[in-house]
Amino acid sequence: MALRNIVKDGDPVLTKRCRPVEKFDKKLHTLLDDMAETMHHANGVGLAAPQVGILRRAVVIDISPEQDSVLELVNPKIIAYSGEQEGNEGCLSFPGQWGIVKRPNYVKVKAQDRFGEEFTVEGTELLARAFCHELDHLNGVVFKEVCERMLTRSEIEDMTR
Ligand code: CO
Repeated sequence: MALRNIVKDGDPVLTKRCRPVEKFDKKLHTLLDDMAETMHHANGVGLAAPQVGILRRAVVIDISPEQDSVLELVNPKIIAYSGEQEGNEGCLSFPGQWGIVKRPNYVKVKAQDRFGEEFTVEGTELLARAFCHELDHLNGVVFKEVCERMLTRSEIEDMTR
């Protein structure tokens, strides 16, 4: 496993639509392992392949405080959603920036695992938010484009005090 560089604000790779993963090989497994390590190291709850410069449809998510529950989603699709939540959202590619983003409160995703096996997974609240945020990355969409508004500097200071 190795840490990868996280692509930052302004890099055109963050605006590109990703291609499906077709090979469930060692290279994919290394990518997913590296993405999980990179996400944990940066204290994030999710990371999409384009954020490490790879334009393929793969994401990792881990909302557990212990950083021991990595969810790998390959070629994920949202197949159901309901409700609404509004909350603060940030992104490892936009350090220090936060926005208020409306998302569904419940999201169900169909995806493949690292071996190509299909499965479904569902989540509410933070997990539902993470599904939406990370899957947006695969279509070249970042939270700044879908937010109600960005938080001001003093709002961010209040939040982190
Ligand atoms: Co992000």
